[in-house]
Amino acid sequence: MRRFSATAAIRPLVLVTAGTLALAGCGGDEPAGPDLSVSGAYMPQPVSDMAAGFLTVTNKGDEDAELTSVTSDLGEVTVHETEGQAMREVSSLDVPAHGALVLESGGSHLMFEQLAQKPREGQTVSVTLHFTGLDPVEVDLPVKAATYRPTSGN
Ligand code: CU
Repeated sequence: MRRFSATAAIRPLVLVTAGTLALAGCGGDEPAGPDLSVSGAYMPQPVSDMAAGFLTVTNKGDEDAELTSVTSDLGEVTVHETEGQAMREVSSLDVPAHGALVLESGGSHLMFEQLAQKPREGQTVSVTLHFTGLDPVEVDLPVKAATYRPTSGN
């Protein structure tokens, strides 16, 4: 008798756990809000006391995300847009739902100033991307040759 009742007490616990897992899996199929991933990050080896950083933030979610700031141990980081031959600092950039924010040579980019040291090809620079209402995203930028250009499909 004692053995039987012990088994009966355990069984409902197992059922509750399985039910919780099934619910979590169901919710994961339709993510609410932005769903971000970062690819193609790199920094050309700096030739002055400034450096640029490039990367793509992809948003597979149903809501826009907003990149508001970038921080790094390497130095001051600002986000720049390029207009014609001039670049200017912007306070934020959108990552559209089901779209991407592309930071690329000749376009929008990360600008590093007051470098703590000059990173060299083969090293890695860590940055943290800050988005409105989301957890910060850590990204490692491999340092490439100063003349490096990514090939399409890379
Ligand atoms: Cu710039």
